[in-house]
Amino acid sequence: MNVLLKGGTVVTHEETYVADILCTDGVIAEIGDNLSAADAEVIDATGKMIMPGGIDPHTHMQLPFMGTVAKDDFATGTAAALAGGTTTIIDFVIPSPQQSLLEAYQQWRDWAEKAHSNYTFHVAITWWDDSVASEMETLVEKHGVNSFKHFMAYKNAIMATDDILVASFTKCLELGAIPTVHAENGELVYHLQNKLLEQGVTGPEAHPLSRPSSVEGEAANRAISIAKTLGAPIYLVHVSTEEATDAIRYAKDHGHTVFGEVLAGHLVVDDSVYQDTDWGKAAAHVMSPPFRPKHHQDALWKGVQGGALQTTATDHCAFCAAQKAMGQDDFTKIPNGTAGVEERMMVLWEKGVNDGKITPNEFVALTSTNTAKIFNMYPQKGCIRVGADADLVVWDPNQSRTLSAATHKSAIEHSIFEGMEVQGVPETTLCNGKVAYHKGEIRSQSGDGRYIDRPTYAPFYESLRKRKELNQPRAVIR
Ligand code: URP
Ligand code: ZN
Ligand code: ZN
Ligand code: ZN
Repeated sequence: MNVLLKGGTVVTHEETYVADILCTDGVIAEIGDNLSAADAEVIDATGKMIMPGGIDPHTHMQLPFMGTVAKDDFATGTAAALAGGTTTIIDFVIPSPQQSLLEAYQQWRDWAEKAHSNYTFHVAITWWDDSVASEMETLVEKHGVNSFKHFMAYKNAIMATDDILVASFTKCLELGAIPTVHAENGELVYHLQNKLLEQGVTGPEAHPLSRPSSVEGEAANRAISIAKTLGAPIYLVHVSTEEATDAIRYAKDHGHTVFGEVLAGHLVVDDSVYQDTDWGKAAAHVMSPPFRPKHHQDALWKGVQGGALQTTATDHCAFCAAQKAMGQDDFTKIPNGTAGVEERMMVLWEKGVNDGKITPNEFVALTSTNTAKIFNMYPQKGCIRVGADADLVVWDPNQSRTLSAATHKSAIEHSIFEGMEVQGVPETTLCNGKVAYHKGEIRSQSGDGRYIDRPTYAPFYESLRKRKELNQPRAVIR
């Protein structure tokens, strides 16, 4: 099936121009003026923008976590993604301690077969021995995994201690993969949680108190220092504080390769949500790191504008009200996670582009291109050029909407963006060259999504090695 997008304004991370785009067999076949194709479905994009489909580098569909399983599975979650203009998600394989990485990876691959959108995986390192190192090798060489995740929080569950970070970052460097971290000091969180419970503070208002910004700042600095000492690059997921943003900026200023991701939620929602007298509403916002006092949002936006934070994500991990109620008497038992895969691009357009903080081209970089580059899917994804995958979003910058759980595709009954007015919404989403979403209707089928292989980024690592050799700044690489 061919799809012809007529007369739209093409917006990439570097260019803006009016053109027709013909998509054939899942790829962009032609870009030009007055294109025609006999058997094509024609979509009039006059007055609309055509941008690369969004890539959300951080989601958790049907994640088994904290005694339950996230409500949005790979079917509902990826349908929601498409409705929001996102055509690829990077989800996380999270092996339980002592579980084989390859077994966990296969489990997640099986679950993801029902995906509507494209998908790929970071794999978490939750324990360590020689078999983990050898399975990392297999994942890189045979399964197109080029990034490994480390949770510095969640003590007594999946927390990676310093010895694991050192061993795993070293292995990542050897393999040409990128280590990523959830930066929060798990020991401090555990200590503060217990102290609050002892004091009888058991509600959701205790959640942010148990995870102050210094807890993230310490872990961010530690992870960056470890990576820097070993000569490895590093990617920090869901950066939510001024401290962590400053740590990234400082390291970048000193020539180190550090990437930072920010969530749409952390950019626009503040910690007042935990003071809601409605327990369910406050609990609905329990995620880690927590929402922060407003001045952190200013720091995050500055990080976005100045290049310290290069990607936007959601950490989509949807728990419904009944699941949140598992922590009715103890805030540490409220499953951590919020949704947003559908809203991310609209929120970033409204609060970023419409508010004059970023340009439409920067919007494309932040929602798609930078992630494609960092995790080596570019230029197959994250760009609009002949031969690239036809993962595209037709964006109507004039249409308004009120974001609400009443209308979102996610399976849960609350939204952290409830009531937000946005102007600028996806009208049509093309995934693998097919119309997957159009004006409110999901047209894709469960199972249409494809797994994306991400080879290691050899040239990037080569240049890193060269730079290190030139400066001789630190320990020998490898
Ligand atoms: O609260 C969160 N973020 N839940 C999902 C797991 C994680 O830490 O990313
Ligand atoms: Zn996390
Ligand atoms: Zn400050
Ligand atoms: Zn996460």
